[in-house]
Amino acid sequence: MNDITVNDLSFRYADSDQLILRDVSMRVREGDFVCLLGQSGCGKSTFLRLMAGLEAPSSGSICVDGQPIDGTSLERSVVFQDYGLFPWMSAGENIVLALRQRFPEKSKAECRDIARRALREVGLKDEVFGKYPKSLSGGMKQRCAIARSFSMNPPILLMDEPFGALDAVTRARLQDMVLDLWSHEERKKTVFFVTHDVEEALFLATRIVVFGQSPSQVIFEKEIPLERKPSRKEMYESRFIMDLRNELVGYINQDVLSHVED
Ligand SMILES: Nc1ncnc2c1ncn2[C@@H]1O[C@H](COP(=O)(O)OP(=O)(O)OP(=O)(O)O)[C@@H](O)[C@H]1O
Ligand SMILES: [Mg+2]
Repeated sequence: MNDITVNDLSFRYADSDQLILRDVSMRVREGDFVCLLGQSGCGKSTFLRLMAGLEAPSSGSICVDGQPIDGTSLERSVVFQDYGLFPWMSAGENIVLALRQRFPEKSKAECRDIARRALREVGLKDEVFGKYPKSLSGGMKQRCAIARSFSMNPPILLMDEPFGALDAVTRARLQDMVLDLWSHEERKKTVFFVTHDVEEALFLATRIVVFGQSPSQVIFEKEIPLERKPSRKEMYESRFIMDLRNELVGYINQDVLSHVED
């Protein structure tokens, strides 16, 4: 089981006096799809860095299956806000490198096959394998980063605004793709997904968490108890989801007002 418990987590960067996160607590079940919302600068990426083990808590802890996270692990893969692809390697080689680390027993040829399949799964043509990141569009780079993370098949997947700069149609396609990939293996993957888009969160999440500001705390948390994810049409017709949408927007607006009005 990969249940995650965040216990009174507080964090400040070593070279700064500013407390970024204060007493953040949450419990996440294995297989949950958690969408994190909150204003720019509130600490969402910082929270994912802590989840990834790239930073250590100033106090409190994050435990996976009861064990505190202590450093990075190939069991937790990150799709970074800036894609995190090495510019000196082709898209395919970026994926192969990650696969070789994750599956040292597999040959390079096997890893190349998995990488090609992963690129196809995110809707990219085979020729993308040999292209360098600088010759790919933002959306293609995002898809490569997603392909890399999913091909590593980690039990915990951390995604930082992975669809940030995409048009609505590509975004909708990738949302479907991520849900599809997440649903493989009876939803055993736990996903943390940062987004600014309320509709996206409602469509993807089984649990929605909103961070407040300065220092950040959980100001809203709600489980979406659904047997299966609804279609977009069903979502807009669901009273429960639309009530939740209004509640969520209300919380976010309240937070905005408390910071922009004297
Ligand atoms: N390496 C760092 N050293 C010091 N402070 C940092 C560092 N990285 C981020 N911060 C600060 O931590 C705060 C939270 O930043 P973070 O990137 O986590 O926000 P975010 O919620 O992801 O914002 P966005 O929605 O814009 O991506 C900001 O005030 C930022 O300036
Ligand atoms: Mg961020």
